[in-house]
Amino acid sequence: MEVKDKFIKRYEEGYMPWAHENADFNLIEMVQNWPIKVCKTAEIGCGTGTDAIWLASQKFNTVAIDSSDIVIDIAKKHAKKVKSKCRFDVCDFMNDKIEGAPFDFVFDRGFFHSFEKLIDRKIIAERVSKTLSEKGLWLSLIGSSDDLPRRKGEGPPQRSALDILKAVEPYFKILSLSASYFGSESERPAKIWVCLMRKRDDK
Ligand SMILES: C[S@@+](CC[C@H](N)C(=O)[O-])C[C@H]1O[C@@H](n2cnc3c(N)ncnc32)[C@H](O)[C@@H]1O
Repeated sequence: MEVKDKFIKRYEEGYMPWAHENADFNLIEMVQNWPIKVCKTAEIGCGTGTDAIWLASQKFNTVAIDSSDIVIDIAKKHAKKVKSKCRFDVCDFMNDKIEGAPFDFVFDRGFFHSFEKLIDRKIIAERVSKTLSEKGLWLSLIGSSDDLPRRKGEGPPQRSALDILKAVEPYFKILSLSASYFGSESERPAKIWVCLMRKRDDK
């Protein structure tokens, strides 16, 4: 079963433990402290849209995509409630181009890490690089293998720093890779990698 189909099934069952009500503090801190200047932005695998709506509230011209129409409907309802200018589209990132590309900044929280095979993560890195403008930035929040081992199916996938490097290094320069935990309402948020990358000049 393809990754997108697993998520479509989960959303049909109403199972979405990754959903969060407040924008992830790792995104907020990176945007404010790096700083990442207001620009044309895309979120990949946006889920219920919390982080994309926050980006739009900070004046980022934001498009957010997900392959599940159920979750995009939820995100659109959230956006309407808070009068957000964020655009939400159903789009399969592994096969389709995001309308409006290129973007200057791409964000994902738990999309890249959802792919088990290195070859798929390499394809994602290449596709993100093609989605970005020259010198574009990619911020990815990725479940960390330095967290306690969990039972299969529990908690986010866990990736090592090497798993990340092997996939992204050909397409991106790593600007910052730090250990953190997911910003969420959970009592014991999972450990993550916060990885900020810049597209390589020749990609
Ligand atoms: C772990 S969830 C994270 C959702 C959201 N970013 C969050 O943190 O709440 C991963 C998301 O990636 C989406 N996804 C999986 N495969 C996809 C694909 N091929 N194209 C676009 N989105 C995809 C899923 O539908 C799901 O919403």
